[in-house]
Amino acid sequence: MQTVNLSADLRETICAWRVSGDSIAFVPTMGNLHDGHLRLMQEARRKADRVVASIFVNPSQFGPAEDFAAYPRTPGEDADKLGAAGVDLLYLPEVAEIYPDDSVNMTFVEVPGLSSDLCGKFRPGHFRGVATVVLKLFNQVRPDFAMFGEKDYQQLTVIRRMVRDLNLPVEIESVATVRESSGLAMSSRNAYLSKDERAKAALLYAGLCRAVEELERGRRDFSAIEAEQEAVLAEAGFSVDYFAIRCQSDLVIPRTGDMSLIILAAARLGATRLIDNFRVHLEFLP
Ligand code: PAJ
Repeated sequence: MQTVNLSADLRETICAWRVSGDSIAFVPTMGNLHDGHLRLMQEARRKADRVVASIFVNPSQFGPAEDFAAYPRTPGEDADKLGAAGVDLLYLPEVAEIYPDDSVNMTFVEVPGLSSDLCGKFRPGHFRGVATVVLKLFNQVRPDFAMFGEKDYQQLTVIRRMVRDLNLPVEIESVATVRESSGLAMSSRNAYLSKDERAKAALLYAGLCRAVEELERGRRDFSAIEAEQEAVLAEAGFSVDYFAIRCQSDLVIPRTGDMSLIILAAARLGATRLIDNFRVHLEFLP
């Protein structure tokens, strides 16, 4: 696997691949890679002739009080994992390579509506930072396919919308969430959890499963289901940002007849913020 830090070097390699007619799949990450990330690499490997991964802890998607400085950075171990996963090229840029000028008067990509709901309510500016960096990376890599995890379902929805709105020539592929055996969704931030918190963290997924069961039993009193599960999590010691039943396609609040739903939750355990979701397709009207 080749590793490059400069977009000029990235372009040179990618241009050569394009000339030989190779298709390119791209997996953007912030590093500290786990099996969830590696599943994205596997899917990318199946999809295209060449796989490019990036590791960039993107400052513009972190709020001033968030964990940008503390975010785990393990580039050596990550490179070993990517090499073993069959990635062809790792792009590991410095901040100045992505943000060449200071942020005053910088151009940003804004996906309105979607970006200020759910996680956006609690992390103002987060999805603007995500959309902006992903577009910058797309412009540098110019991939045919880009892989995103369902774990960050709102992020996936924001990216899909950006790609449609801006007519970007890239196909977005989604990959199912990889979980620990306890059900806990794998995440780089799980490293912040203490032993006790880690044991408790699986209750978030359990709450999503219970809500799905209620829907499958025929209940459609969405707000009541949300409130019940939020209370169970609060009782267990979570500080719940939201527990929400939404439509899968655009994350709007569903009506009784909507069948393709998703349950999304964000909750903090101590200083660690966890997010998770569960998609459900209901088979019958109550
Ligand atoms: P990061 O959190 O490193 O995640 C990179 C990709 O891995 C995302 O598409 C995410 O959804 C996916 N992923 C994370 N955990 C997963 C799991 N347990 N199962 C499956 N996929 C998982 O998301 C970001 O970085 C950044 O916001 C980024 C898109 C790179 C922009 O900076």
